Order: sequence, then structure tokens, then C-alpha cells
Amino acid sequence: MVITRMLGMGDLRKIGSGNIGATNVLRTGNKPAALATLLLDSGKGAIAVLIARYFLGETAAQVAGAAAFIGHIYPIWLRFHGGKGVATFLGTMIALAWPVGLAACAVWLLTAVVTRISSLSALVSAAATVPLAYAFGHRDLMMLAAGLSVLIFWRHRSNIARLAAGVEPKIGKKG
Ligand code: G3P
Repeated sequence: MVITRMLGMGDLRKIGSGNIGATNVLRTGNKPAALATLLLDSGKGAIAVLIARYFLGETAAQVAGAAAFIGHIYPIWLRFHGGKGVATFLGTMIALAWPVGLAACAVWLLTAVVTRISSLSALVSAAATVPLAYAFGHRDLMMLAAGLSVLIFWRHRSNIARLAAGVEPKIGKKG
């Protein structure tokens, strides 16, 4: 959102899906802007976790990650019309428990390679995070992963309807 405005690319909410995330920035055809959006959105979650952990410990790190995520999907400065939270979720997970976060990213990538659909990849990787946290011995993370995954599904309601109708666009396509 900030990047596309800075680059004079117009209001992202009037392009493609209307979402402010990297997938929708990619629909403009500007790959560096999409990558920068991905890195900034994921970095937001990761940095919040790392700062909170450094000063206040592990529970605060989880709270900070959740706060960064909720701040991204319901930002005050956009009148609570934010993004779908996928990049911020993955950045938060990487910083909280990197094997869990990187495995979730791998699930996203694998699904994207197979289906070429960003939203489906996001839903599959979000759903995989709870079992991944369990498998990697991070049971303390399972509640947070479950809560944030439910919110990711909630934010993808329109995508789920398009997936069910078989009309969800592939990555990079305008739809
Ligand atoms: O990360 C967002 C992605 O899962 C869906 O984006 O623009 O296709 O709704 P979009």
C-alpha cells in the first residue's frame, strides 16, 4: 500500500482483488514492488516478535506477533480495512519458531508450484501450521497458530467463494 502509493501506482484497493498484499501488487506487473511488499509485511511481524522477545520474553513475543498481525488485517489508518495477513503471519511464525515458519513457507511454495494460486497456498499453509508446530515440538505455539489461521481463513472469504466457483485467478494473472 505504502510502496504502491510511493511509486505512484495508484490505489491498490481499486486493482485486482482489491487486497493490499504482495499477490495483488504482482497483478500490477511490478515484481520488485511485490517483493518489497512481501518483505515489509513479513518483516513487520518478525521484527515485532524479535523486539518483544529481547525486552520482555517469549510470551510477549507471541503477543507482539499477534498484535502485528491484527494491526495488519485491521489497521486503524485504513479504517480497519487491511490485508489478509499471510506474509505477516509467516514472518511472525519464522521469528517465533523458525523451523515451523520455514516449513509453513515451504508448504505455501509447494502448493503455489502445483496450483499457481496464491490464496489456496495461503489457506493450505495456514492450516498446516498447527500440525507443524506440534511436529516440531512447539506446542506453546499451537494456540496462536490456530487463532491466526482462523483469521486468515476469515479474511479469505471472497477467495474461498472464488475457489469454490473455480474462478480464482492464478498468480500474476489479473483474473
Ligand atoms: O496473501 C494474500 C493472498 O492469499 C490472496 O491475495 O489478492 O488473490 O486476494 P488476493
